[in-house]
Amino acid sequence: MTATILLTGGAGYIGSHTHVALVAAGYRPVILDDFSNAAGDVPERLARISGTEPRVWRGSVLDAALLDEIFAVERIDAVVHFAARKAVGESVRMPLEYVETNVVGLVTLLKAMRAAGVFRLVYSSSATVYGVPDRLPIPEDAATGFTNPYGYTKLAGEQLLEQLAASDPRWAFGVLRYFNPAGAHGSGLIGEDPRDVPNNLMPYIAKVAVGELPELRVFGDDYDTPDGTGVRDYIHVEDLAEGHVLSLAALMRDGRGHLVNLGTGCGFSVLQMLAAYSEACGRRLPHVVVPRRAGDIAACWADPSRAAELLGFRARRGIGEMCASSWAWVSRRQRN
Ligand code: UD1
Repeated sequence: MTATILLTGGAGYIGSHTHVALVAAGYRPVILDDFSNAAGDVPERLARISGTEPRVWRGSVLDAALLDEIFAVERIDAVVHFAARKAVGESVRMPLEYVETNVVGLVTLLKAMRAAGVFRLVYSSSATVYGVPDRLPIPEDAATGFTNPYGYTKLAGEQLLEQLAASDPRWAFGVLRYFNPAGAHGSGLIGEDPRDVPNNLMPYIAKVAVGELPELRVFGDDYDTPDGTGVRDYIHVEDLAEGHVLSLAALMRDGRGHLVNLGTGCGFSVLQMLAAYSEACGRRLPHVVVPRRAGDIAACWADPSRAAELLGFRARRGIGEMCASSWAWVSRRQRN
């Protein structure tokens, strides 16, 4: 029988790509999204990609009555929980809102799941829980910490799930620590679509490429890295989406939880990413070096071996494909 999967935040960047991957793998995904950080036309774009009309509920994970209704009507078998706030700078200004959406939202969802007898959940965590990494590549048993309210909420969520799993053996959680998601779907129909000036590197470069921003501001070129700029582990969003399908399959198969990094195991610098994007869009994109951004670390990349071992996960797509798919998405979106 086809399993029905609730995707909270399923119209967002990673959620929408996971929707496509779940349909392809034979699941029946149901979206719950408040569209606070997703375009209203994502559902019809998903329909064009997958050839099937997505099930969409509009609302918040903080709405307990709505959650109860969704569980009753849709007969949900498991949940992938994306719905959260994710801007580091904003979290410093609005810690209460971050705790409310990311932690209270998780608690509200878990209570609705328990009431409905649903005990399997995939949780969107982040490499941000490693704080300043104590070694590279970063394995899952590295020290954890946080340097801002966003990181605090992600780590608090992980710890809550750990306590909950210990309290009742029916619970099984797939905790996925994302490194730096990048790129867009190969169709060019969905991708990252930030409302304001982006904080993150790839969407910022994309806006330079389409001419909405004049140049990339490189935050520091005096780090202890090969070219002096920050090094990160960029993972194609389609690989990331496939990681969710594998995590879900493992939870449904053996009912045991797991906590894994989702990254490639390779680091690339800001200047390398800019060069790769320039190649993808056929134009040398301008940049200027400015002082370091407060709170940034020099380098961060994953030890991806546990996800390979437990889930059979391997990122297959490189930075060339990330930049080409991002360019296809943003240049097409601008024309429409
Ligand atoms: C950031 C978040 C992290 C979150 C992740 C999600 C911070 C401090 N950290 O990570 O918590 O989980 O996004 O993807 O915001 N850069 C520039 N110019 C720019 C933007 C970025 O030079 O305009 C550089 C940064 O200094 C860094 C690299 O690009 O070296 C990547 O930055 P970003 O995309 O913001 O990701 P992280 O800082 O790794």
